[in-house]
Amino acid sequence: MGIQFKSVSHEYFSFSNNDEAIKDINLTIEKEGEFVAILGHTGAGKSTLVQHMNALIYPTSGELTVFGTNLPPKKREKVNHLRQKVGLVFQFPEYQLFENTIIEDISFGPKNFKVTKDHALENAKKAAALVGLGEDMYNKSPFQISGGQMRRVAVAGVLAMDPSILVLDEPTRGLDPKGRDETMEIFKRINEEENKSIVLITHDMDIVSKYAKRIVVLKEGRIVFDGCKEDLYVHPDFHLFNLDYPTPLKILKYLNEKLNIPFVPRYTKEDLITYLKGVKL
Ligand SMILES: Nc1ncnc2c1ncn2[C@@H]1O[C@H](COP(=O)(O)OP(=O)(O)OP(=O)(O)O)[C@@H](O)[C@H]1O
Ligand SMILES: [Mg+2]
Repeated sequence: MGIQFKSVSHEYFSFSNNDEAIKDINLTIEKEGEFVAILGHTGAGKSTLVQHMNALIYPTSGELTVFGTNLPPKKREKVNHLRQKVGLVFQFPEYQLFENTIIEDISFGPKNFKVTKDHALENAKKAAALVGLGEDMYNKSPFQISGGQMRRVAVAGVLAMDPSILVLDEPTRGLDPKGRDETMEIFKRINEEENKSIVLITHDMDIVSKYAKRIVVLKEGRIVFDGCKEDLYVHPDFHLFNLDYPTPLKILKYLNEKLNIPFVPRYTKEDLITYLKGVKL
């Protein structure tokens, strides 16, 4: 098993109202093959939840196990190796970059995990290619590139460590539609071909519908839904989750109201088109 939360809560000590940012979380993320989207309104606790997954922060109550290590760790027990197993790309990638050049930044992780310098560089180049960063970018400063490019560098830095579980906090934010689709296709490939688990925070319901195999919804720090998309949009409390419908469902609803076209749920643009081609008007 990869990551297991048992009744986990987290309270930030600076919290003025003494409330918990996540509450009574029970959640298991398998170490292979999952594609989980974490959804919820701003402030719902998504970033707080995922920062537990690679031991950046610890539960203030409950039990958390990451690849067999109970967290918080015992005195002097190291947790660094967990960051190789679970790679986290931050919500704001500029906090994650710090080396002088892009290629040094991407190879920092593997170098730190005891691979040789040459091997680290090789991993870094492979990861850079995977996210579409060409050789012309290698020696640029990670602080003199666009937000979208910074995000790619941060993703490459995590991929270069070859984690089992990849946790991505809004990885497509600030990308144009082409960049968004390319980035998502990379994660899809990693999930399908390398069988790595992906945990993805996003506000983009079209991404959720197209890629996620499982959806977890947070509301005010609690999990209010954990299941598949087919069940999410028809959930009796959906209107309380502060979520939007994906575009294909919105179009189908509209066509149903205006043209009486039967509402048969379709979750991607491609499936919607196939369905509409077969509809007799
Ligand atoms: N470092 C911190 N110190 C104190 N409070 C924090 C800290 N980080 C987050 N919080 C609080 O914890 C709650 C959950 O925040 P979190 O960042 O996990 O939400 P989120 O779901 O990721 O939101 P967003 O969609 O805006 O990124 C919020 O009320 C937030 O103000
Ligand atoms: Mg967040």
